[in-house]
Amino acid sequence: MSDTQFTIAIDGPAAAGKGTISKAVAARFGFAHLDTGLLYRAVGRRTLQGMEPIAAAQALSAEDLEQGDLRTAEIAQAASKVAVIPEVRSALVDFQRAFARRGGGAVLDGRDIGTVICPEAEVKLFVTASAEVRAERRFLELSAKGSDVTRDQVLSDVRERDARDAERSTAPMKPAEDAVLLDTSDLSIEAALAKAIEVIEKLRPAKS
Ligand code: DC
Repeated sequence: MSDTQFTIAIDGPAAAGKGTISKAVAARFGFAHLDTGLLYRAVGRRTLQGMEPIAAAQALSAEDLEQGDLRTAEIAQAASKVAVIPEVRSALVDFQRAFARRGGGAVLDGRDIGTVICPEAEVKLFVTASAEVRAERRFLELSAKGSDVTRDQVLSDVRERDARDAERSTAPMKPAEDAVLLDTSDLSIEAALAKAIEVIEKLRPAKS
């Protein structure tokens, strides 16, 4: 594709559907996609292995993202805990900003993309859903992978993580002032994706 910079920032809480929407949007428009949660998860996993969080963030490499399953409930909580530390966040900023402004278009999903990483993003979506709906989705996902978590555990994990992510003082999860809110509580994935695409199409420069 061309060198045009076009950034789509997709923020929101866990299991609201932003990962699925981001992947589908990137595929549809031929943009690169970065799930920024994986960066925090990789740092979180290192801390579970005994590493100090700031050192882990500063030493993060591509292999950390590629090895093993980062999408476990234990790593999600560890990620949310390291994400509170300002030095961990600042160690990950440059990589995310460079990705956001690469040529050819980029989709980044996370918690602070539209507010801190790329406030100049051409499209900002804040994808959300009720805690109960999100917990049910995450429960089904984890159960399908063979995890023996209960619904109640997943709901309390979701609430704990929401509170920590939204209440931290550095780059808390919140919609950018100019973000379009997309509540997926009562939407199928197809309907949520259609709405996201509608918003993006309106803001995308016309093809010459
Ligand atoms: O999107 P996720 O569930 O994979 O994210 C895991 C944790 O990482 C999340 O609870 C908070 C943190 N995170 C963050 O603070 N900022 C981001 N841009 C992405 C994730």
